Amino acid sequence: MNAPSPARTSSPAAQLRTLVKVAGDSRIRLLLSLGRRLAMPVYRASFLAGAVGSGLLRLLERQPADAETVARELGVREDTHRLRVWLDVGVRLGELSCRDGRYALRSRYARALARPGNDALAGALQEVAHFHHPVLRDAPAMARDGRAFCLGDQDGDIIARSSLIVRPFVEEAVSRHLERDRPVRLLEVGCGTGHYVRHAARLNPRLTALAVDLQPEVAARAGENMARWGLADRVRTRQGDLRKLDVEERFDLLTLHNNIYYFPEDERTEVLRRARELLAPGGRLLLTTSCQGGSPALAALNLWFEYADFGGPLPHEDRLLDQMREAGFAAVGVSRIVPGEQFRAFTGTRAPDAH
Ligand SMILES: C[S@@+](CC[C@H](N)C(=O)[O-])C[C@H]1O[C@@H](n2cnc3c(N)ncnc32)[C@H](O)[C@@H]1O
Repeated sequence: MNAPSPARTSSPAAQLRTLVKVAGDSRIRLLLSLGRRLAMPVYRASFLAGAVGSGLLRLLERQPADAETVARELGVREDTHRLRVWLDVGVRLGELSCRDGRYALRSRYARALARPGNDALAGALQEVAHFHHPVLRDAPAMARDGRAFCLGDQDGDIIARSSLIVRPFVEEAVSRHLERDRPVRLLEVGCGTGHYVRHAARLNPRLTALAVDLQPEVAARAGENMARWGLADRVRTRQGDLRKLDVEERFDLLTLHNNIYYFPEDERTEVLRRARELLAPGGRLLLTTSCQGGSPALAALNLWFEYADFGGPLPHEDRLLDQMREAGFAAVGVSRIVPGEQFRAFTGTRAPDAH
């Protein structure tokens, strides 16, 4: 039997020559820079989105935990090995630390996203990973194959939470337009978490509301929130589609926050006409939305809805104003909430003598 050949190690001089050669190769330099500047942020964002969605960040915010505890808390019963490999990637990425077998939050982002007050930011990161990333990656193939996203592709819970990223803008719009010196009957369509109904209810203690959302699980969550916030006696919640909403009651204010792009562009006039019918004479519409021409994040949001079989692009300001007029609204107007932002509040009235 031949003896195994010893491992061949090159001399220090040969190693140096190889290093100089590799370092001088422009493709290797490009690969390293691409890894650092492009791939690394994607790895970090993907890991953190998984860490938010699985509950890892919230768990480790309470205290460091070993892999067995993490597995138990995250509902992983058998495959603790693979969970540990994932956690160790988090350590390699610098998001987590691991000391004496216990994992802890390490990076600034991991610690910030774990805080309950930053849940909208955590939701926004999940939105990037779950929706923006796939559409940016798959758009050409989807266009080629005629494929589109459907409402079921949207995780209603993620969207309801991430929508609150524009909370200061929407709250400001509601504060500007809500009447406070008399009882107001509010209909909020596409209520998400119900947060803005609570905001309105706080501003006007005599406000009562019906909050509806198309997605049953989102409407159910809004109902739970109202009960938790002590508003169940003033706010009714239910699943419903604005286009088919069957209610006798007429409202003083109808709000549509961040959801006009859930309707195809050529159906928006009809949708707005339906909204107008639900208002009492003299009642007002308050519609808030991001419009065309904003940040890359808004361009990605717009792209997703261009590729959805149920919605449409973010509105063009002038076109939406025209559609409101076509739908029969009077005193139509639009205001910018923050200079430099593409976020707008559109308002219109059902004329007092209108039928
Ligand atoms: C982006 S979320 C916004 C949620 C909330 N308004 C906010 O700003 O936080 C849009 C919501 O509109 C709801 N929606 C979409 N089309 C609807 C329709 N036809 N009727 C009622 N709700 C609808 C969706 O289910 C989703 O929860």
